[in-house]
Amino acid sequence: MINIDYLQCNKMLAAITLMSIGVFSASADLPGGDFSWKVTEGHSYPGLSGVWIYDRYSCLVTCYYMKDCYVVDYDIFSNPPCWIQTNKFTPNKSYLVSVPDVTDYILLNVGDKIKDNNCWVITPKMHIPGLKQVEYNTVASCTDYCLKLKDCFVVDFDTMSKPKCWVQTSSKIIPDVKNLKSMDSATNFMLNPKCKA
Ligand SMILES: *[C@@H]1O[C@H](CO)[C@@H](O)[C@H](O)[C@H]1NC(C)=O
Repeated sequence: MINIDYLQCNKMLAAITLMSIGVFSASADLPGGDFSWKVTEGHSYPGLSGVWIYDRYSCLVTCYYMKDCYVVDYDIFSNPPCWIQTNKFTPNKSYLVSVPDVTDYILLNVGDKIKDNNCWVITPKMHIPGLKQVEYNTVASCTDYCLKLKDCFVVDFDTMSKPKCWVQTSSKIIPDVKNLKSMDSATNFMLNPKCKA
């Protein structure tokens, strides 16, 4: 009995380790669905901006919900590993350059993105003071929590805090990009009130 438990525990730990280093990332669900992204291993798209996000899914979610972002590079050896399009251009895969260990993602289902992305306005390297820290550590779980929370229209995802998720709990906080303050480790998300069911 003890031996079996020990073995299963080891298998679980191995799976978690592999997932956290991104070995399963190619088959993992991608925001908008796996068929929404053209995935090119070993290639990088020049001219993207680094954002302080340290998991692949959150990196893709951030671009997916961000206006005019269609390209992501995930580079496990750079700090941060997450690189996203912040200038307006139409991606062209002939601009990809070969770079070992970088995975490039180009969004194909632009229509789906546009349907979904009116909900959150995303501003990297900014935050709103006065939010409440809650027990979530991925962008998706953090923004979903806010979506269901009464009076929540602002989220900060701060990769340097533990946990990383900060949500609005007070109606005294005005969700306006004018109130954003600079913070390198944070990404701010503001919810369109129409998306609150
Ligand atoms: C992509 O770039 C190549 C090389 O610059 C160019 O020949 C091609 O027309 C571009 N494709 C699109 C769809 O813009």
